[in-house]
Amino acid sequence: RLGRMAESLSMRAYAVGGFVRDLLLGRTNLDLDIVIEGDGVAFMKAWEREGYRVSVHERFRTGMIVFPGPRKVDVATARREFYEFPVAQPTVASDSLKHDLYRRDFTVNAMAIALGERDWGTLVDYFGGRRDLRRGFLKVLHNLSFVEDPTRVFRAVRLEQRLKLKMEENTVRLLTSCVRGGLLSLLSGLRVKSEVEILFHEALPLPAIRRLREFGAWEVLFPGLAVDSRTDRVVRRLTVFFRRLHRDLPPLEASLWLVYLASLLFGSDEAVQRSVMDRLHLTPAERHVLSLALFSLGAAENDLGGRGERRPSEICRALTGVPLAVCLFWAAATERQRIRRRLLLFLTRWHKVRPMLTGRDILDLGYRRGPLVGKILDALLTARLDGSVETREEEIQWVLD
Ligand code: CTP
Repeated sequence: RLGRMAESLSMRAYAVGGFVRDLLLGRTNLDLDIVIEGDGVAFMKAWEREGYRVSVHERFRTGMIVFPGPRKVDVATARREFYEFPVAQPTVASDSLKHDLYRRDFTVNAMAIALGERDWGTLVDYFGGRRDLRRGFLKVLHNLSFVEDPTRVFRAVRLEQRLKLKMEENTVRLLTSCVRGGLLSLLSGLRVKSEVEILFHEALPLPAIRRLREFGAWEVLFPGLAVDSRTDRVVRRLTVFFRRLHRDLPPLEASLWLVYLASLLFGSDEAVQRSVMDRLHLTPAERHVLSLALFSLGAAENDLGGRGERRPSEICRALTGVPLAVCLFWAAATERQRIRRRLLLFLTRWHKVRPMLTGRDILDLGYRRGPLVGKILDALLTARLDGSVETREEEIQWVLD
């Protein structure tokens, strides 16, 4: 439909970038990026007239169309010059598409698939992306790729690790000189934050963290940062937790990356840790999570330790108000087995325990509305956590007693 709509406007549409790369690899990728040869803005407005939600950046001629699902399609424009091939010859891709693809980062990301009626599915591959993909190579499109956009250092490492590609020699050389030349330190805090966030949402961030260390990227980004075996140990434990406990762990979604960031900063001095928080322009909420994770581990170990048995309700009380992301970090960072076990039990089981009875039930049992109801529910929670009540009937009996 995208291709047909483009053709009805005398334009052409191509799927490009990561979507094409992943399609050739047989990997699912739900982020569809398309390039419109012609006027992307007019193309999006046409969809808007059909009732779809679009958001358009007129200045960059880019934007997004939201299809039901919701499924978003990012749209960019490759302006067709008047002397290029008319739409009547739809199998020939024009210079403007080639230009658009050449601005991109790696050969494997610089392929397109035609979406027109007659050339639907035709691969446009000017720079040998398919061959590189087949041979497993990650290769820059041109020597200025990292200079044009140093965030591509992160992208290179991410793609290399995720897709198990091998960075081609010249690309390694260019990436190294980008890092050594200090270009990463010129990036704004928000761009670095966004790249670090994406990196830490990868399924297995440890190899990428290590690879960036090999290139000396962390040190350039955050002077004084000690990314050492402590980081490795904590991240490795997180990986094990996710593998073994993923069904029982709470979904951390937006704060997951902070758990990895805390692991990255774990072995460094407090002054360095604070300067990284400043450099990344963390929001007050993010700063709170990270500070608690890093600076209160010792206090948490004191609260949660103890040789004898600790009742689940005591552990829950000690962790009241602590974000789950922080608990997860502490579980990975502590060297004390017993504390790790308690934190993991809290994360996988105890934190979600609630009494079966509700406030309404307590009123129905004859209590008056007021603070006592809350106290009863708290006490009931303690009883449930510590195993003194299990069924609803036992809860009712417990309240009546
Ligand atoms: N791109 C680029 N340089 C960048 C960012 C993006 O050249 N700094 C290009 C690449 O061609 C990339 C496309 O824009 O394929 C889309 O970018 P994005 O959606 O961020 O990346 P994906 O390649 O889809 O990667 P991922 O699977 O990690 O989302």
